[in-house]
Amino acid sequence: MELLDGKSLASTLTQELADRVAALPGARRPKVAFVRVGEDPASVSYVRKKERTAAEVGIESELHVFPDDIAKDDLFAEVDRLNADPTVDGILIQSPLPGHIPDEEAFDRVDPSKDVDGFHKVNLGKLVQEDPTGFVACTPRGILTLLDRYGIAIPGKRVVVVGRSLIVGKPLALLFLRRQQLGNATVTVCHSRTPDLGEVTRQADILVAAVGQPRMIDASMVRPGAVVVDVGINRVPDASKKSGHALVGDVDFDSVQPLSGPITPVPGGVGPLTVAMLMENTLQAYQLHEGVHPA
Ligand SMILES: NC(=O)c1ccc[n+]([C@@H]2O[C@H](COP(=O)([O-])OP(=O)(O)OC[C@H]3O[C@@H](n4cnc5c(N)ncnc54)[C@H](OP(=O)(O)O)[C@@H]3O)[C@@H](O)[C@H]2O)c1
Repeated sequence: MELLDGKSLASTLTQELADRVAALPGARRPKVAFVRVGEDPASVSYVRKKERTAAEVGIESELHVFPDDIAKDDLFAEVDRLNADPTVDGILIQSPLPGHIPDEEAFDRVDPSKDVDGFHKVNLGKLVQEDPTGFVACTPRGILTLLDRYGIAIPGKRVVVVGRSLIVGKPLALLFLRRQQLGNATVTVCHSRTPDLGEVTRQADILVAAVGQPRMIDASMVRPGAVVVDVGINRVPDASKKSGHALVGDVDFDSVQPLSGPITPVPGGVGPLTVAMLMENTLQAYQLHEGVHPA
């Protein structure tokens, strides 16, 4: 069993991005704006990590924090202001937002050319059309990059994605389907209404779990030798930890890893790549705004 070490790959990618940013001509640097509503501890920590990585790469960032009772129109006016700011290349609205502001409405408010999250319907449409000028959602893009850098071929493989969310499952399934070197897979997408889930997941050459259920995928659901990608980040009580909780994936790592092929750990698997891809997308947005065609 080979460990797919997302943490170490993310630091390689971060260094590569830092070199590319340092080599950019002109004085203007890429800039990403983070929008956070409320003080949800997970959101606070995710945004802080993104700010730190931006600084490492040489991408400027600015943080805009609003109270969780902000009116939808007031938040959208702030997004409009960032849309109009020529110094801002990318805008990231940290989800989940409070219930009175639907996430999708907020994602669609961002100018598609600054949508470094890749959640705007224009960029999702470009993904469906296989138009390379769109932004691809960071977690799915990170997963493909991970498989690519570890030399795991995708064409012709049976891929099973468990989960059909807008931010992971659906865009990932579309990426695996593309008529490209990092695509051309036969893709099955499962969800909470899929009967006999194990019968489907056992057919996977590459199994991706993006469910949000701690350790749900156990050894009985995995074909021996299959590549396993665990997107889940679940907080479970753990008295042995100082914080009182531990982070676990959607895959029962201890039972699955002895029989699987290459597998991602949690933490240290997909998560760090998501942040690296956000920086990649911000650089792509900068190049778009500067009229530079990516090499
Ligand atoms: N590593 C990262 O950077 C990263 C990024 C994003 C998310 N995550 C993590 O990934 C996980 C999934 O996130 P998400 O935003 O995609 O979650 P989500 O929006 O809650 O979607 C979960 C999906 O799993 C399906 N599902 C739930 N229970 C199931 C079951 N028992 N059997 C089969 N399918 C089931 C749901 O089916 P229905 O559609 O039928 O409800 C849904 O499609 C979470 O743990 C999240 O924290 C990690």
